[in-house]
Amino acid sequence: MAQQLPTTQVRPHPTSEDLWWRTAVVYQVYVRSFADGNGDGIGDLAGLRARLAYLADLGVDALWINPWYPSPQVDAGYDVTDYRDIEPAYGTLTEAETLIQEAHAAGLRVILDIVPNHTSSEHEWFRAALAGDARARSRYIFRAGRGDSGDLPPNDWRSQFGGPAWTRVSDADGAPGAWYLHLFAPDQPDLNWENDEVREEFEDILRFWFDRGVDGFRIDVAHGLSKTPGLPDAGVRERTALDTAPHPAWDHDDVHEIYRAWRKIADSYEPPRVFVAESWAPSSDRLALYLRPDELHMAFQFDFLQAPFHAEHMRAVADEAMAAVTGVEAPSTWVLSNHDVARHVTRYARSQPEHIVDRVWEQQRWALEGADLELGLRRARAALMLVLALPGSAYLYQGEELGLPEVEDIPAVLRQDPLFEQSGRTILGRDGCRVPLPWSGSSPPYGFSPGGTIAEPWLPQPTNWGPLAASAQSKDPASTLNLYRQCLRVRRHLLESPFSWVDSPQGTLALRRGGVECWLNTSDAPVNLPAGQVLVRSTSADDHNLLRPNSAAWVFTP
Ligand code: NOJ
Ligand code: CA
Repeated sequence: MAQQLPTTQVRPHPTSEDLWWRTAVVYQVYVRSFADGNGDGIGDLAGLRARLAYLADLGVDALWINPWYPSPQVDAGYDVTDYRDIEPAYGTLTEAETLIQEAHAAGLRVILDIVPNHTSSEHEWFRAALAGDARARSRYIFRAGRGDSGDLPPNDWRSQFGGPAWTRVSDADGAPGAWYLHLFAPDQPDLNWENDEVREEFEDILRFWFDRGVDGFRIDVAHGLSKTPGLPDAGVRERTALDTAPHPAWDHDDVHEIYRAWRKIADSYEPPRVFVAESWAPSSDRLALYLRPDELHMAFQFDFLQAPFHAEHMRAVADEAMAAVTGVEAPSTWVLSNHDVARHVTRYARSQPEHIVDRVWEQQRWALEGADLELGLRRARAALMLVLALPGSAYLYQGEELGLPEVEDIPAVLRQDPLFEQSGRTILGRDGCRVPLPWSGSSPPYGFSPGGTIAEPWLPQPTNWGPLAASAQSKDPASTLNLYRQCLRVRRHLLESPFSWVDSPQGTLALRRGGVECWLNTSDAPVNLPAGQVLVRSTSADDHNLLRPNSAAWVFTP
């Protein structure tokens, strides 16, 4: 149980308001699955507005809201038709403006999600391109096909969702014409970032939302905008979606110019706005390039997300990540789950490998090895305590504060992720981490939709989630929800303290920040904690100075 941290040892809260992001805990809101205000089974802005108090009470600093723009929803909103409006199923622009104000009033900053690599194929620009408008075509990446009749794709790049990254279109007379590039679904044509109109358009979109008080943007596939000139063959095996091997479509040096221009725009606001990159760069050093002082503020540290639950592995990844950002004076940005990967309760619920856990590998073993979700949750709670003790910012994915597992058994007919069909059903996809949240009650929809709602949640919720519902956990001091609340409160006292590793036995790691040590035990034997006052532990057992397997503790050691 937490006790009061002796205040004499505590240094004050962050130095400057403008640097809030360096230590922020940001809560990812996947709107579709957060809370449904109008009873159509789809989360929306009304639902989110009604739960802002819950988020403020949880103790996070900011929200990252997944794309909320009008979209055919082929890829759950990552296929945008209008970057300056709100998806009608979610609400209206006026409601979004109100939400931003209400979030600010509740002490929560708001980060939106910008999707600059591609638009929806329904976007007016792409429609004009298909209609043969040459100027519109030059905003996308159209090329002639290879082979005598041009019926082979222009190069060998593969879509992240499976199949070729090119689709052929017809000319005005109906004859087969050029091909366009789509690194994701065919409904997500890639934009041409060598085109000035594209650059100007996105700079204007940034201003549109910054003018409405938005505090920053998460940049979707930030490493994808600039392609290697000439679009050479990759000559590599088919990439898995999260692969980071060097590839001519990804992480090209020219991309940094785009972010230098964006940074100037962000800095022209008072207070300055911020960016966080989703960049699957091939190494921590390449990732750090996005974080140079005149570029982006944060970038998700995905090597850490993919680390197995092994203290040595986690420490090595954290070390490398922190070393890489030191040179550019950026913080590390820790994350355990998001809407693209299996929830970490489930990733930790099976034996832990010696290698990274990528999405495809993780899903393939579900059929081979049973999940021990109790163990997975125990480890997830411990991992959280490491993440929140490390220096830098941290992102939480909605539902992880409830200890939600991945839903592995969504029936094929109900799966929505384009990855499922486009991979020929060889990859289950990401629906299992996107299931609507349980808020209250003992059966679906668990308060996700208002009482009396007939429409079912857009993805089915398991029937055994009652004990995981927020209202049930709120009352239980030992719940995962209350562990998150407690950790987020105590974390505020650690933020300004310097960091160092502490020697610890094999299978464990320990770090020190100010007067507090964070210990994590991933081995199968208990270890002794240092003498001191245990402030928080991931297990509720009263173990005095013992740290059991698969658990963590924060100990005040003056
Ligand atoms: C990354 C997003 O997180 C993912 O959900 C989406 O499918 C791709 N980018 C394409 O926009
Ligand atoms: Ca709704």
